[in-house]
Amino acid sequence: MVETKKPGKIVILGTGGTIAGTASQASDHVGYTAAQLGVEQLMAALPGLTQVLSGRPFALEQVAQLDSKDMDGVTWHLLAARCHFWLSQDDVQSVVVTHGTDTLEETAWFLHEVLQPSKSLILTCAMRPATALAADGPQNLMDALTLACDGGRAGTWVVCAGQIHSARQVQKVHPYRLDAFSSGEAGPAAWVEAGRVRWAGKSVERHLAEVSLPTFLQILPLEWPVVEVLLSHAGASRRRVDALVASGVDGLVVACTGNGTVHHAIEEGLLDAEKQGVRIRLSTRCLTGQIVGDATRWPDVEGLSPVKARISLMLELLSERMKAV
Ligand code: SIN
Repeated sequence: MVETKKPGKIVILGTGGTIAGTASQASDHVGYTAAQLGVEQLMAALPGLTQVLSGRPFALEQVAQLDSKDMDGVTWHLLAARCHFWLSQDDVQSVVVTHGTDTLEETAWFLHEVLQPSKSLILTCAMRPATALAADGPQNLMDALTLACDGGRAGTWVVCAGQIHSARQVQKVHPYRLDAFSSGEAGPAAWVEAGRVRWAGKSVERHLAEVSLPTFLQILPLEWPVVEVLLSHAGASRRRVDALVASGVDGLVVACTGNGTVHHAIEEGLLDAEKQGVRIRLSTRCLTGQIVGDATRWPDVEGLSPVKARISLMLELLSERMKAV
């Protein structure tokens, strides 16, 4: 007898955001409150759910309920643990996370680095609240489920407006438009078209983090290294650097001008900060591209945006701290 493999389970984890937001009027796209509806309600609003899942079982869990502008280390810790739990179940094919758009790229990069998933971990979102006349959340969630049921490409993916972006490349680039995300020069990794996924090519992401999830979960969420982002700009002073060093910061990421250049006043502050043991990394404030060449005083973080470079530096410091104990 030929044994037919049961289709894998899809798990959907809710964390809040505009996708779960409500407004008092259907025409209101900005005056709404994020994180009001549970993940059960989001799924109940999907008309084509049965077709897209085509017989796959699914499980729902509300991990958090927040506006992602307020995302914090405690929630990241819990979310990483729940994603890890579900992804390590043999019968689970993929995990989908509903999330606010504002810090989505940071959560995606963080999860990608600590989980290094061998299945599909998919984040999706919405730019309009669930009560909007033409809400985008249901379609984005459907597209995320389509990807979840697809062949299951390993990695962490962000689905929005019919596009699939890798965790490394994705950035929110617009505060209002429905297609608010971009992968810059790299372009989307794939598209969801009429219920099918079309990949742009092979896309396998290298990991930078040395800290594995079991290691990461040993630390208390409040013991994260403190890393701040500094902006280099015309007329800058070293005041912020000095204040951050005095407050006990462990690392600083500079969002540099152009190809990794730093205002001389900030640079003087950074040189002193480094003498006091503060780790410095560079990123560019340019919206696309990355620092080229080796002319910079401090290393850049392999083309990551400043907010993602901050996450990678935290994980780097964390892994050193874990090795030292
Ligand atoms: C949020 O990030 O939670 C609110 C904004 C959004 O989801 O678009």
